[in-house]
Amino acid sequence: MPSSVMPTSSRGDGRQSTLAVSTIGLRKSYGDKTVLDGIDLRIPTGSVFALLGPNGAGKTTAVKILSTLITADGGQAQVAGHDLAADPQAVRAAIGVTGQFFAVDGLITGEENMLLMADLHHLSRARGRRVTAQLLERFDLVEAAKKPAASYSGGMKRRLDIAMTLVGDPRIIFLDEPTTGLDPRSRHNMWQIIRELVADGVTVFLTTQYLEEADELADRIAVLHDGRIAAEGSAEELKRIVPGGHVRLRFTDPAAYRAALAALGEVTRDDEALALQIPSDGSQRELRSVLDRLDTTGIEADELTVHTPDLDDVFFALTGDATVPHQPKENVR
Ligand SMILES: Nc1ncnc2c1ncn2[C@@H]1O[C@H](COP(=O)(O)OP(=O)(O)OP(=O)(O)O)[C@@H](O)[C@H]1O
Ligand SMILES: [Mg+2]
Repeated sequence: MPSSVMPTSSRGDGRQSTLAVSTIGLRKSYGDKTVLDGIDLRIPTGSVFALLGPNGAGKTTAVKILSTLITADGGQAQVAGHDLAADPQAVRAAIGVTGQFFAVDGLITGEENMLLMADLHHLSRARGRRVTAQLLERFDLVEAAKKPAASYSGGMKRRLDIAMTLVGDPRIIFLDEPTTGLDPRSRHNMWQIIRELVADGVTVFLTTQYLEEADELADRIAVLHDGRIAAEGSAEELKRIVPGGHVRLRFTDPAAYRAALAALGEVTRDDEALALQIPSDGSQRELRSVLDRLDTTGIEADELTVHTPDLDDVFFALTGDATVPHQPKENVR
């Protein structure tokens, strides 16, 4: 596809970057429930974009719309330079999707799943076999290739799922919660796979519940809440919009705790834990000032921790649910 058909984004420095995904006012409702209430996205080609949001926020709905599995009720979207409504076939040819809805057939082997995919993409038999062999090798599935996919572990199934997506050589990949349910090692393996895709120039659109994952992988992150993008930016930019940085001092001696409380003034107290929280940007200068104030009174804390805002703080601040970090999963998808 000629790159001239891709929509471009002016970066202010005179250079233009092509957009892999752009949407304006994307809307979707189920009955009287508005799931997406006007979503604007601009995702540069070759970047990693993470869509964050609590359960039921509409992440999968957004992925399904952008990958042509369902249609939006309103708004416009272009994916890989093609209008979603006018030319869904062209969009489909340029993208790959793996997600909460697996494509893997458990009854046949991993290799057969791959060859089936090659057939769907109209590859010749020889080319289908070659691509399958390469991808099985790349995703460390050679040993398991002749076993039924149902016998694979969660991590192996995810790898097979991504390998199947890559058979069509997509330029844009949608990954809906690619690491949910994976153990830490498999999660890190998946991150490595995603980084390699990006190094190959693939644009990755991922949804995740893990803020650490977005922090680790994404160039840009958007937080979906109440049908809208509540905030968008790099991980660093998002962290800057929330307060939450503090120094926490814990004492074992109640007298020392009370003395520190008197010495420090403006603090948040936790009488039960004998802990004090002092707002701080985490800089050495602020830390020293706290310690200096303690030193003048000769009080020593038993434990000192510095907390800088992380994406969890951003998430809870924006989605307004500081007390319930994990809502139960809904079954409706
Ligand atoms: N086919 C459908 N019919 C009716 N309601 C639906 C349908 N699909 C999704 N919904 C509703 O739309 C909302 C958004 O669902 P969606 O699956 O997009 O959320 P999500 O952000 O992916 O959540 P999760 O983190 O649990 O995967 C939910 O309230 C869900 O119940
Ligand atoms: Mg989902």
